[in-house]
Amino acid sequence: MPHDVSLIATIAVGFALAFLFGFIAHRLRLPPLVGYLVGGVAMGRFTPGFVANNELTGQLAEIGVMLLMFGVGLHVSTGDLMAVRRIAIPGAIVQILIATTIGTLMAAFWGWSLGAGMVLGLSLSVASTVVLLKALEERNGVSTPNGRIAVGWLIVEDLVMVLTLVLLPAFAEVLGGNSNTPAGAASGLGLLASLGLTLLKVISFVALVLYFGPRVMPWMLRQVARTGSRELFTLGVLAVALGIAFASARLFGVSFALGAFFAGVVLSESDLSHKAAANSLPLQDAFAVLFFVSVGMLFDPSILVTQPLMVAAVLLLILLGKSLAALAIVLLLGYPLSTALTVSAALAQIGEFSFILGGLGVAYGLLPAEGLSLILAGALLSISLNPLVFAGTDLLVGWVQKVSWLKIHLEDGRAARFSRLQEDLEAARVALEAKAGAHKSYSPDELVARFALFAGLTPEQRETLALHFRPRNAQPGERLIRVGDKADAVYFISTGEAEVVVNGHKIKLGPGDFFGEMALLSGLPRSADVIALDFCKLLTLSQRDFRELLRRYPGMRDPIAAVAKEREESNRQFKERPHGGVTQPA
Ligand code: CMP
Repeated sequence: MPHDVSLIATIAVGFALAFLFGFIAHRLRLPPLVGYLVGGVAMGRFTPGFVANNELTGQLAEIGVMLLMFGVGLHVSTGDLMAVRRIAIPGAIVQILIATTIGTLMAAFWGWSLGAGMVLGLSLSVASTVVLLKALEERNGVSTPNGRIAVGWLIVEDLVMVLTLVLLPAFAEVLGGNSNTPAGAASGLGLLASLGLTLLKVISFVALVLYFGPRVMPWMLRQVARTGSRELFTLGVLAVALGIAFASARLFGVSFALGAFFAGVVLSESDLSHKAAANSLPLQDAFAVLFFVSVGMLFDPSILVTQPLMVAAVLLLILLGKSLAALAIVLLLGYPLSTALTVSAALAQIGEFSFILGGLGVAYGLLPAEGLSLILAGALLSISLNPLVFAGTDLLVGWVQKVSWLKIHLEDGRAARFSRLQEDLEAARVALEAKAGAHKSYSPDELVARFALFAGLTPEQRETLALHFRPRNAQPGERLIRVGDKADAVYFISTGEAEVVVNGHKIKLGPGDFFGEMALLSGLPRSADVIALDFCKLLTLSQRDFRELLRRYPGMRDPIAAVAKEREESNRQFKERPHGGVTQPA
């Protein structure tokens, strides 16, 4: 080949195999994720045929993790987290402690060192938020209270893992790892000093991001949004996500994942976060697939034959150990069995953080390579079995509903605590919506409510009307209407100012005003030029929809016609004395 095309080959074969096996998995009613992992195994060095470049796939996977964590950050609602904190924080921490202890004991039984056992235990203790979100999406459970509890729980786990990743280098030597560890480790410095330094870096990074982020990022995105270019907006979102992640890794030595996560958190507070999420989603999906492919590539299937008992033990810990621990914790905290079962099912798998932690453990000489293979086997099997686990919990919940004493003790008797949490979640949702309103969100419903003209309409009428509006952005100087043109739409100004120019006279229009109605009413050409004075957000109504509006709500015609008549009248006067100047709106 003329030049090195290993990156192209890796991406092309990766996508093709992931697609092929993902499709087959879907046909077999398994999550497509399982197919991506198998696709990775197929292009790994442990299976015959094409072998992809490990190094490159690793980097592509890292981009995938960054974008995934950015997505998780974007979806984090601080209100939600606060609402579920009483169950998620103690639950996740205690469950991690229990699972890590079991894992360490298990490894000690195999004759592994304490460090190896702890890394293995920690890796197995954390479930994958990505897998959970996908599972909840398939079941329509993302916004249910139980779903939100499970997501909150896993986010706490993620945060604990991020902290673990940051601290691991500092502890590696003490736990019996390499003395010549990769850069940034404890060598030379005392453990305490290096620990303190690490924590200081993380804290200053988080403080910096949380202080400046919400002040700068949403403002910046809004500026970009005003350009009206979707491409620039997507680029802006990606630049923020990957830029913060990369810069934080370089400057503060925190992980890419943590940086990207906080970039998402910062943007999640912005009223444009939905747009940001929607625009970054396709790229996130594509790279997430490569992430799963790269995990599959590292997997050596022979471990299933050479160490079946160890694989079985790991799988049991993931499926039963963690789940039972979580079940007990949730029940002890006084929540209903159905909540406990949802959280348990959510936890019965491992994913991205387990691989990252395992990989780091191997790099620091803490975890034997076999440990990483075990983690990968556990992930592959538990992710594949996860839909079955969820189906099993559904059956169990149904059964509990039928057995009256169980229902009384484990469901009804605990309803009060659950409904309090539900109220908190509802309050968080309402608060978020109110905030979106205060931010001048651009949902058509809210905009319709802002125009005095529509004040007389019932909420239902406004809602149907809102469906017909098309949002449009304009830049300073942009000509929105040209005199003499044929009329096509009427414009409502939501934010910004526009200028009507007629016979040398200039009339300023602002938020709440409308223009472009005269030609539509009279059937004549446009009577004036209209130019945006600054960045404007407009709502437009097509000629057809405008006619429909007047037909359906005859009460609208008079006020609009009155404005048009008044404008016509002043234009006639302008014609008589065309000297120019800025006039207040007619
Ligand atoms: P139309 O004629 O469809 O296109 C140009 C628009 O400019 C016109 O509708 C009005 O909405 C607006 N316009 C024209 N003259 C005036 C005026 N004197 N004051 C305010 N707006 C005007």
